[in-house]
Amino acid sequence: MARRLLLLLVVVAAVVIAGCSHHTPPPLASPPLAQPLGQTTPRAETPPAATPAAARGDAARGKDIFEKVASPACTSCHATGDSRIVGPGLKGVGSKGDAYIRESIVSPDAVVVSGFPPGVMPKTFKDQLSPEQLDDLVAYLKSL
Ligand code: HEC
Repeated sequence: MARRLLLLLVVVAAVVIAGCSHHTPPPLASPPLAQPLGQTTPRAETPPAATPAAARGDAARGKDIFEKVASPACTSCHATGDSRIVGPGLKGVGSKGDAYIRESIVSPDAVVVSGFPPGVMPKTFKDQLSPEQLDDLVAYLKSL
């Protein structure tokens, strides 16, 4: 008799526990807090190799590099619309993809845009700009 009672208790306990667990979902993992502005993460930690440059880069900084930091300024040869200056207008260039844009900046003669002469765009940007600045530029160009 005592055994039966015990068994019954175990069953009741199991049902109660199962029922309860239904009402107490496991605590949600709290999302990581957004980083305060101005705090920079060491870049090396952020990009697993597969992260597209545009995702790593900062378009606002890229705009600054495009207009002021790079020398000669990208704007001296490129419009951000459709029009041709010395080089092609860069509107919509994002559709050609991150890798293409990056290559066009560090190694301009790798692919020469048809209708434009090779050897005009300076080959010095790869030494002048850091990988982070290139990411920023790519992010900016993709936003055009
Ligand atoms: C002295 C003029 C000149 C400067 C300065 C210059 N470019 Fe260019 N760029 C060109 C020319 C000409 C082409 C087209 C021929 C070629 O593909 O090399 C070109 C091509 C490109 C392309 C490929 C466009 C496409 O439609 O496929 C990209 C992207 C680009 N440049 C980005 C930049 C960026 C970013 C800078 C500044 C860091 C820059 N360029 C500075 C002349 C220039």
